[in-house]
Amino acid sequence: MEDERIISNEAQDDNENKIEKTLRPKFFNQYIGQDDITEKLNVYIKASKQRNESLDHVLLYGPPGLGKTTLAMVIANEMEVGLKTTNGPAIEKPGDLVALLNELQPGDVLFIDEIHRLPKTVEEMLYSAMEDFFVDIVVGQGPTAHPVHFPLPPFTLIGATTRAGFLAAPFRDRFGIIERMQYYKISDLEEIVKRTADIFSVEIQQQGTHEIARRSRGTPRIANRLLKRVRDFAQVSETNEIDIKIVDKSLEMLGVDSEGLDSTDVKLLESMIELYNGGPVGINTIAANIGEESDTIAEMYEPFLLQIGFLKRTSRGRVVTEKAYQHLNIPFINKD
Ligand code: ADE
Repeated sequence: MEDERIISNEAQDDNENKIEKTLRPKFFNQYIGQDDITEKLNVYIKASKQRNESLDHVLLYGPPGLGKTTLAMVIANEMEVGLKTTNGPAIEKPGDLVALLNELQPGDVLFIDEIHRLPKTVEEMLYSAMEDFFVDIVVGQGPTAHPVHFPLPPFTLIGATTRAGFLAAPFRDRFGIIERMQYYKISDLEEIVKRTADIFSVEIQQQGTHEIARRSRGTPRIANRLLKRVRDFAQVSETNEIDIKIVDKSLEMLGVDSEGLDSTDVKLLESMIELYNGGPVGINTIAANIGEESDTIAEMYEPFLLQIGFLKRTSRGRVVTEKAYQHLNIPFINKD
């Protein structure tokens, strides 16, 4: 069936995904962090439920791993409506979108991840669907082709993207609620690590929790992944309670440095320093030098390095900061 190809369902989920599912909070009272966003969403959800209306369309953007999909699930649960999940590249043609929309019940949430990768024809069909809950489709071919006006139930589109700047303005404008997901505070990541450890029934000391949180790049997905790997190391070394020593040792073996940088971050900074004297240098040049895609650098690496003040963006390109030189133990020569 068409929709089985683009919508994930329980049967397709592997074991890892099942674990991920139990880790995901289901309601706002279990959702840690992003307080600014969840407070506002809570109000919007209450208000639309009181009015018996569907929630306005929501656009969530920000670096990967910050819980955009989780938040979409929480929104659907709090609205007490159904949720269909898909992603931009999976909707190849307008017909795929119509098939999805056709299955929605009034008020349901349609979640489209990587919404910046929707084909243009699909995006344009969404305009009327979002604004007035209808699509015009062409039925038949050649001389018998004729337009059909296809009304839709009211629904909520939740779009997620790592690149809000890639969305066309008329598309962006059709989302009534636009929120940027922020990197998590260390205290929030500590809560998430504790919650996950609890779900896994593993004991972890506060210092160990803190260290994992501190070295997770502000990202719950990374915090949970590091905890899983540390749990493996602890289990095999017959350490019953995860302490700072086993965390340190595991993260070192995983190639996660004292600030949470991995080998790609370090390679990126070091090649900017070695080849371009610390910059300014363009992102495509850096990408080519270290053999990564520009998009990967722009979405996954650069935002965090900017956030912790290791990189600066200037009109002429990216520049490595003195703070990064210090971290890498490379002498800094002021060029100003
Ligand atoms: N697991 C991953 N992200 C989470 C979050 N924001 N709150 C609670 N648990 C999480």
